[in-house]
Amino acid sequence: MALKIASFFFILAISSLFRVSFPAFLVPVTKDSAAEKYTLPIYLRTPPRQVYLLLDLGATFTLIDCSKNYASSSYHSIPCGSSLCSSLGPHSCSVCSGLAGPGCSNNSCALHFTDSGARRSTVMGEALMDSLSLPVTNGRNPGPFGTIHNFIFSCTKGPFHKSHVKGTSGSAGFGRSKLSVPAQLSKSFKEKFLFTLCLSGSPSAPGVVFFGSPGPYYFLPEIDLSKHLTYTPLLSPQLSNGYFIGLTSIKVNGKVIWLTNEGLVPTKISTMTPYTTLRSAIFKAFAEAFVNESAAADLKVREPVKPFSICYNADDIADTPVGPAVPTIDLVMQNDDAVWRIFGSNSMVRIFRGGVDAWCLGFLDGGDHPKAPPIVIGGHQIEDNLWQFDVESERVGFSGNVLVHGTMCANFNFTKNEGLLYT
Ligand SMILES: *[C@@H]1O[C@H](CO)[C@@H](O)[C@H](O)[C@H]1NC(C)=O
Ligand SMILES: *[C@@H]1O[C@H](CO)[C@@H](O)[C@H](O)[C@H]1NC(C)=O
Ligand SMILES: *[C@@H]1O[C@H](CO)[C@@H](O)[C@H](O)[C@H]1NC(C)=O
Repeated sequence: MALKIASFFFILAISSLFRVSFPAFLVPVTKDSAAEKYTLPIYLRTPPRQVYLLLDLGATFTLIDCSKNYASSSYHSIPCGSSLCSSLGPHSCSVCSGLAGPGCSNNSCALHFTDSGARRSTVMGEALMDSLSLPVTNGRNPGPFGTIHNFIFSCTKGPFHKSHVKGTSGSAGFGRSKLSVPAQLSKSFKEKFLFTLCLSGSPSAPGVVFFGSPGPYYFLPEIDLSKHLTYTPLLSPQLSNGYFIGLTSIKVNGKVIWLTNEGLVPTKISTMTPYTTLRSAIFKAFAEAFVNESAAADLKVREPVKPFSICYNADDIADTPVGPAVPTIDLVMQNDDAVWRIFGSNSMVRIFRGGVDAWCLGFLDGGDHPKAPPIVIGGHQIEDNLWQFDVESERVGFSGNVLVHGTMCANFNFTKNEGLLYT
């Protein structure tokens, strides 16, 4: 009897060691350096097929190009008059004169989206439901695949304006809407709408996105980045499905160069904008202060290299463990305890071409459009930082540059753990 009880507890201990206690998923994310965008593989359809999609943090839903043989034994369209269709937001009833099949039927639910790349033209695609599979994870390794059977996306047959990235067949919507990839995964497994992004700047070594897990997030050598997060409110401006944090000031080398008295100024985090853009007036003050501060450290600007306006000869700048030695940039959020310090590896861009070897300040003048967010944080600035988007608790956790914590986003161990059980 005692032995039986002991072995029972032994098995319990072993299985809880490997069981993923809540289904958390992951996906590797790779930078396409030509397009300066990020792509990820998902498995869709039955039998599962891998497709590469563009990661779009601001997009409401996922778009897949169905014009090339979308074959699946598990897809469904959504009837136009159904309550599911009405719940999906702006929609209409499809009419298709082509060959009947996935993405071409009459009277099914068609989703609308506004494509900024095509100057706000509205493109329509039929909503489809199909199986989506991703690896589960315990925060250390990927495990077997888990599947949701009713993943909703838009199956479009037209040209793809957003997807100029070679090898992709659409874009993965990661927005705050209930149709985004993280929202549908969370809903399907009745867990928190939360996901975590760690983008790698290297085209050869992917970073990672975790879905549904508040942590741990282990990166080699055994660093749990969930222990290094600072939190700031997630703002929810109307008319946007993107992610906004609130800034109160910007400092260069500790000196305030921009300060607002309007509370938290909504600042968008974007994976579709390669470099942070600042509204003209802010950019001018920022650039001037950066040049002044670097001059004080004996750094002289050189002729700029487009699209950047402030560059230095690479030979003149010393290296540090967090990139080239240049003035630090602080983005101050709700108070002085929530400061994102940006070091050279995220502020500067190396340009090495045509006999030029320069480091350029990777921030751009975003113009003066009163309707555009005054500050949009771009991909180069968020790389090698961990970002936890906790939509349910309306907060964003950020780690700052993870090099400071002794790791990189490319250091996730993608070796499959065969022992990981998915229950
Ligand atoms: C949709 O309806 C139109 C007009 O009735 C018809 O010509 C077309 O073949 C139908 N398309 C499909 C895919 O059934
Ligand atoms: C930069 O330096 C110039 C010359 O010393 C000074 O006039 C200017 O106010 C400084 N600007 C900033 C933003 O610090
Ligand atoms: C990566 O994970 C695998 C599977 O868990 C493990 O066997 C291996 O030791 C890990 N690699 C490193 C460098 O820790």
